[in-house]
Amino acid sequence: MASATILKSSFLPKRSEWAAARPSATAQPMPASSLAVRAGSYADELVKTAKSIASPGKGIMAMDESNATCGKRLASIGLENTEANRQAYRTLLVSAPGLGQYISGAILFEETLYQSTVDGKKMVDVLTEQNIIPGIKVDKGLVPLAGSNNESWCQGLDGLASRTAAYYQQGARFAKWRTVVSIPNGPSALAVKEAAWGLARYAAISQESGLVPIVEPEILLDGEHGIDRTFEVALKVWAEVFFYLAENNVFFEGILLKPSMVTPGAECKERATPEKVAEYTLNLLKRRIPPSVPGIMFLSGGQSEVEATLNLNAMNQSPNPWHVSFSYARALQNTCLKTWGGRPENVKAAQDALLTRAKANSIAQLGKYTGEGESEESKEGMFVKNYSY
Ligand code: 13P
Repeated sequence: MASATILKSSFLPKRSEWAAARPSATAQPMPASSLAVRAGSYADELVKTAKSIASPGKGIMAMDESNATCGKRLASIGLENTEANRQAYRTLLVSAPGLGQYISGAILFEETLYQSTVDGKKMVDVLTEQNIIPGIKVDKGLVPLAGSNNESWCQGLDGLASRTAAYYQQGARFAKWRTVVSIPNGPSALAVKEAAWGLARYAAISQESGLVPIVEPEILLDGEHGIDRTFEVALKVWAEVFFYLAENNVFFEGILLKPSMVTPGAECKERATPEKVAEYTLNLLKRRIPPSVPGIMFLSGGQSEVEATLNLNAMNQSPNPWHVSFSYARALQNTCLKTWGGRPENVKAAQDALLTRAKANSIAQLGKYTGEGESEESKEGMFVKNYSY
């Protein structure tokens, strides 16, 4: 009966204020250039990169925490935020033996892209030897959006073309830009439009440098709202994102998406089962995402490790038009980080913890995860208000 209720309450199209506010595209003569899909000289390579990342049983390890955020993680295990400690932790992650069986791409922070492991090998080379494609976070973080309801916008477009060209030279083959949308703060039409426009400009620039852009408008978990409200906001956000991606001639076959799953707000009393999250999320994707997009790589957003895996598994119970997988940071690294605790003698156990999560999510990508035998720790939620990257 759940689906009948959903159909009635929220999936029926509502009049969109965004669409209503925009001058009708059909009323304008269509210039010849907007009919062409601009792929640029890297088109074949973009398709190949996106397809290899979105290959069966594989997903992305997000390890692109900015130095400030990495510092918070290290502080949680009593370590100082030094370059040496960040290097030791990231060496542990990239060199976990056999990680490439489950992970096809790793998103790095700029420091790591140019860094060597503690044994003096380039981090990017260690990843490539594991058959893991290196990626790079290219946004410059969030700042307050003037004129909005205490919302944010994402910086980083200035100088982006020269940075993406340099990152390609350094071995990166895909990029990430994370902006956020807050439900309790609105979201205002201004914030949604700004988020979508920034993502589209970034995507076009990245493709021209040969990097597959991961398009990530994170709809924050913060709030007391129910799942229907998240669904409604997500429909608006993704409509806007695809409108501007198309306007900027972004080549859809050469992008990857990183959405939030459609869940109730973190402070909503009514929780949703994995089946319900999957039903709402897949409905959103079917309504908004063209099948030419090769992969949907979800963020975990503060869900527990096991919750994120169960939800992914529920979405892979029948074939989807796109590869539906993961690009988790917290839901892959949490137990690993705690197990390590900054002690060299714990490196192997910490790598095993990472491999356990990577394997579980790989199985969930194939729709065959049962959730059996998981530790209590991996069931603990990680939601933090106003989380930044
Ligand atoms: P989480 O999985 O911790 O939400 O991280 C997502 C992210 O954007 C990192 O790239």
